[in-house]
Amino acid sequence: MRFGVIGTGRITRRLVADLQSTDGVTVSAIASRTAERARWFASQYGIAASVEGYQALIDREDVDAVYIALPPSMHTQWCVKAAEAGKHVLCEKPLATSLEQGDQMARACDQASVRWLDATGWLHHGRTIKMLDLVNAGLLGTPTHFTASVSFYRPFQSDEHRLDASLGGGCLLDLGWYAAGAACRFVGEAPQRVFADWQLENGVPIRTTAILWFNNNVTASVSCGYDTATRKWFEFAGSEASIICDDFTRPWADRPPRFWVHQAHGEVQSHEVADRQEQRMIRTLVGEESLADYNRHALATQGTLDALAASAASGRPVSLAPSPSPE
Ligand SMILES: NC(=O)c1ccc[n+]([C@@H]2O[C@H](COP(=O)([O-])OP(=O)(O)OC[C@H]3O[C@@H](n4cnc5c(N)ncnc54)[C@H](OP(=O)(O)O)[C@@H]3O)[C@@H](O)[C@H]2O)c1
Repeated sequence: MRFGVIGTGRITRRLVADLQSTDGVTVSAIASRTAERARWFASQYGIAASVEGYQALIDREDVDAVYIALPPSMHTQWCVKAAEAGKHVLCEKPLATSLEQGDQMARACDQASVRWLDATGWLHHGRTIKMLDLVNAGLLGTPTHFTASVSFYRPFQSDEHRLDASLGGGCLLDLGWYAAGAACRFVGEAPQRVFADWQLENGVPIRTTAILWFNNNVTASVSCGYDTATRKWFEFAGSEASIICDDFTRPWADRPPRFWVHQAHGEVQSHEVADRQEQRMIRTLVGEESLADYNRHALATQGTLDALAASAASGRPVSLAPSPSPE
């Protein structure tokens, strides 16, 4: 599959290398708002064609799929345009800035019969799949409480999109995507009700703290922010054991991907699972397996973030509409 890349920011550098090192995938073109930047990026990363403007990239015949690496507020527009041109879509997280937009993206891709995935690499890591298998096999006994914290400490440059409300900035969409998304993934559904509080700067949350209530008496507490040192851990606890991972979004660079199971009587088992999450994610997109489970999860996460934002803005708990039953 031949990918065209939209945007030349920080994450693009990493993902282009991941695309180029995945079997069966090539990167044929990259687009920027400016011709010079596209040219510079193409020459640095060995991409054959550089393109000025995003639509021109989507319209190219040598592009089968588009990787969208833009600020969150631009994801919907370019995903829909790519789908309308018959291109498959790999879209950076957060999928969108609201569930309404996420639904619009999903509909456009469905109508055009193109495949789409949010670029949430950790979901595809073999370690995540093993942890989910253990949880689903009853490792925890009766699951009770999920906790996740995802943060990093700024500073940001003055033009940082994460601090710009009009570009979909703020820690809730950026990092809550991981923390609340992990709760939904491990519990297996979106919450029924949430309560959140946030601290705003220039109209964007720089810290968010939340409680989520799920079916079956499972609760979650999640925290994310730009004012705390890097954290990317979760714990999922139950009546018999808990499972803990201290770097679930992306394994620490200098350590093997690992997690721990703490039994009720104090025994601790350590597990390691080597994998390359982005390559596996890309292979999933370009393969033939159904993406329905990943797509449902992305929309459930987006709906949860909508509810968390509504709760933080109103100071009240917010109930979520029941999600449609799986096909
Ligand atoms: N999956 C991950 O691990 C991961 C990690 C980091 C970020 N992300 C996500 O990836 C997306 C991009 O993040 P990033 O950190 O790479 O952002 P970034 O460095 O700011 O790059 C964003 C790119 O978007 C384009 N753009 C178009 N209009 C823009 C505008 N008005 N302001 C700023 N940029 C604009 C620019 O490319 P041109 O000028 O070339 O057009 C820019 O290089 C976000 O959704 C973020 O959440 C994902």
